Amino acid sequence: MIERLKSWLVGYQKEKSLKPADEERLELLKKGPIPRHVAIIMDGNGRWAQKRGMPRIAGHRAGMKTVRHITRAADDLGIEALTLYSFSTENWKRPQDEVNYLMGLPEEFLRTDLDELVRRNIRVGMVGREEELPEHTLRAIEGFKAGTEGNTGMMLSFALNYGARSEMIQAVKWIIDDVESGKVDKGEVDEGLFDQYLYTSNLPDPDLMIRTSGEVRISNFMLWQLAYSELWFTDGLWPDFSRELFYKAIEDFQRRSRRYGAV
Ligand code: FPP
Repeated sequence: MIERLKSWLVGYQKEKSLKPADEERLELLKKGPIPRHVAIIMDGNGRWAQKRGMPRIAGHRAGMKTVRHITRAADDLGIEALTLYSFSTENWKRPQDEVNYLMGLPEEFLRTDLDELVRRNIRVGMVGREEELPEHTLRAIEGFKAGTEGNTGMMLSFALNYGARSEMIQAVKWIIDDVESGKVDKGEVDEGLFDQYLYTSNLPDPDLMIRTSGEVRISNFMLWQLAYSELWFTDGLWPDFSRELFYKAIEDFQRRSRRYGAV
């Protein structure tokens, strides 16, 4: 019991101690507009590992640490929602051992990070198709949801088995079902209603989308929701992405002029 309390305290002190430069930057950033929702394509884990002569899964392991750092950085800034593209509907084509490893990460993250997420009042959820996911991965997601459901702070969502095109097709099918059963009138179908049938129905559209690793594309991520998002790309690989770079993206976001088609 005492040991558990001690490790909790050490963890708490570690996560709270920001470098003075970060502290200062954070205060400055808080004076400007803060994106409500930041979505991230966490790319480059495999290349990070290959550059070091390590197996690809070592890159995903390092990437999970970055997930922890960026979750803290986003939470410290007061961001309402952070969505992380963790496994796409196309990622099933990867070697089986890599897929298995990725499917085990939610359980590991639950074990290592749930206490801190609860302490930070963060809620955790998932966006994507549950159908193909293994039972143990779904159990971990359920564990996160149950463990954080009373929380009222930042919404951290893992996009798992997520693909924007299949999300939209699924939404269309559900709308057709509801029109046919009389629950929805065809005349009511508009952008707002469509939003409610997406996996992201509980989230505002992302204000900012970040992609690491130098690739400049969207890769079937939130095609509908990103319509008016600011996009920010960096050459760095996801395991090297840091609080500093995240805050640089936010600074750039604060300098953008968002007109939504107006002048
Ligand atoms: C893309 O890099 C990254 C992924 C497909 C997986 C990202 C997952 C994490 C960072 C961990 C998520 C954590 C939880 C708890 C779900 P890549 O492998 O495509 O890199 P490459 O383009 O260099 O090959």
